[in-house]
Amino acid sequence: MGVCFVAGTMVRAQQAPAGKSFDLIEWNGGKFIYGADYYPEAWPESQWEKDAEMMQEAGINFVRMGEFAWVKMEPQEGRFDFAWLDRALKVLNAHGIRAVLGTPTAGPPAWLYTKHPDIAVMDANGVRYRFGSRRNYCLHNPDFRAATARIVTALAEHYKDHPGVIGWQIDNELSDPKCYDAISQAAFQAWCQRKFRALEALNAAWGTVFWGHTYHAWEEIPLPWNTLFNAYNPSLILDFDRFQSASTHDYLDFQAAILRKIAPRQAITENEMGMFQETDWYDLNHSLDFVGWDNYPMMYKDLTQYAIPGLAHDLMRGSKDNQNFMMMEEEGGLGGWATFIGRQVDPALYRVWAYQSVAHGADGVCYFRWRTSRYGTEQYWQGILDQDSYPNARYAMVRQAGRELQQLTPLLHGSKVVSVVALLNSPDSRWAFQNQPGVEDFQYDQQLQDFYDAFRRAGVSVDVAFPPSDLAAYRIVVAPALLVSDQALVDKLTAYVQSGGTLILTFRSGVKDENNVVTDRTLPGAFAALAGVAIHDFDPQMNEEQEIVGPGEARFPARCWSDILTPTTAKVLATYGRAYYAGKAAVTVNSAGKGRVYYVGTESRSPLFYDRLIALAARQSLVALNGQIPQGVEVAVRQKAGKKIIFVLNYTGMGKSVPLEQAYRNALTGKAEPLEVQIPPYEVKVLTEP
Ligand code: GLA
Ligand code: GLA
Repeated sequence: MGVCFVAGTMVRAQQAPAGKSFDLIEWNGGKFIYGADYYPEAWPESQWEKDAEMMQEAGINFVRMGEFAWVKMEPQEGRFDFAWLDRALKVLNAHGIRAVLGTPTAGPPAWLYTKHPDIAVMDANGVRYRFGSRRNYCLHNPDFRAATARIVTALAEHYKDHPGVIGWQIDNELSDPKCYDAISQAAFQAWCQRKFRALEALNAAWGTVFWGHTYHAWEEIPLPWNTLFNAYNPSLILDFDRFQSASTHDYLDFQAAILRKIAPRQAITENEMGMFQETDWYDLNHSLDFVGWDNYPMMYKDLTQYAIPGLAHDLMRGSKDNQNFMMMEEEGGLGGWATFIGRQVDPALYRVWAYQSVAHGADGVCYFRWRTSRYGTEQYWQGILDQDSYPNARYAMVRQAGRELQQLTPLLHGSKVVSVVALLNSPDSRWAFQNQPGVEDFQYDQQLQDFYDAFRRAGVSVDVAFPPSDLAAYRIVVAPALLVSDQALVDKLTAYVQSGGTLILTFRSGVKDENNVVTDRTLPGAFAALAGVAIHDFDPQMNEEQEIVGPGEARFPARCWSDILTPTTAKVLATYGRAYYAGKAAVTVNSAGKGRVYYVGTESRSPLFYDRLIALAARQSLVALNGQIPQGVEVAVRQKAGKKIIFVLNYTGMGKSVPLEQAYRNALTGKAEPLEVQIPPYEVKVLTEP
């Protein structure tokens, strides 16, 4: 723990010991972290002072820099130049702006590829890429590791005592690409050997008896290269996905170890990718002080569908024990590479999205990026400012939110999202479905989203749990499509139900063991007794042909898959309306121990189906729902000392009124709000208990 000074404020840098939360606001000297991703290397130095003035004017006290600037920092092997970055930091620090520096390994220099062409990715066809793009490297390549150690060491040595550098972002968006070269193959074989110890164990676990794939030497184990007929062993692929995730973690730890040794005063984070989950974030984030991630809601077609970025926020929060997190890239303008994504939005909507991040647990908002690039692939990816630096409407929006968030900081500081409902996010099931969706348009994320949306429409906070998470605090756990599970997870869910929890399972649960091998038990396998159902037949659907009848008289369209349920001890809540299995059970509920298990054998595109379903579960588990939140309006809650901080967010271009259960005070104006809160188009209200 160290102490340093920036622009007159004392900053106490801290490192969160395991199990203790990291206080981002304290880390930033008591200020809400508010910033922009800044690339001074791409702009004339004469512009920096003006930039810093405009940032300060907008309430910005933070920048992230450097994650692609390796060649500026090390123009030749072993020759370092940090003078330009020192000067940039000096200008920024003088305006009260502190920095997180990216270790620049997301953009390796051209000279490194000239010397070591094999650091570049080899794809699944055996084609070695050449220099270009970014993050084009093989995680296990020893030359790349050596180059990484050299630049990270030099950077850490240079900035370890710098008062204006409060932390490190390791690389950027660590995840894919997968590399399929001989070094990667040897690393995978070694990983398999560590995991299975004996080759016989691997052969048995992967079922290599199929098509005569049995291995007699570790060196025979292939990578899932592109092969004839696209025919793979799903067990091998799932382990390759795990290997990739573990390798990413190992690479992060490789950098983190250098940083922690040389620069223990500074915090360590990453810029992660929400729903893009080639990496098991839960596992990776044990190595971080806090989670950082990047949020681009404009990528979604219907911008009033706030629950899409909402789920990603909650997933990222859940990936490190629901600690408050950092928006390392918050959308600051329209995005696009070759073409712009979507249409320009009302600038006010960017502010609503920034508040949404805060409402879901962000204690820092950093916009991507300060100014749109003049160069390269992202000329069309807007920053706050456009290339001409004109203080446009987005800048005005940023300045407004910046002032408000500083005003709200004492209220927000120490507050958290508290949930009694959790969604289980299983990396194993997700990866297994990627390879074998079972039915063409099955989407694991859609399963999560359907239930998530229903709870959020009802104003209920949702945590995202991962298989190792503690479930005791939740009244309802939804574990959709739990295709792959091991005994530990089965035991955990069973114990959760036995002690009074409500579990919602959906089709394709309990089908495979942890090796991605299909069970020989009657489906839903390990969950059959708990759910009180047996599945002796199922129907993959290519269209919307099926229908759910019930609960009661209601009818809903059904799609994707039908598990035809035979209740053993469960009660039938809904049946199928069509085909040869009309009248057979589609949705059931079973009492088990002190709790209950819902089994939903199919999927619907009707939100009403999920609303009905969660209403049933909520009534039995005493979870209060708010049935009167208008469409396109989100009500999200943070809590502090048992009191609520309510965010009412309007994502639509129309004024709305939102009835709340009691009258609240507007935290920004200090005025009392009526019971029926009026919320103008693209506006936000932050409310507190009087
Ligand atoms: C062919 C092959 C079998 C099997 C089936 C189904 O008939 O001969 O080995 O692969 O297709 O794929
Ligand atoms: C990601 C990256 C950024 C930038 C943006 C926009 O979030 O981290 O470097 O490329 O996407 O494309």
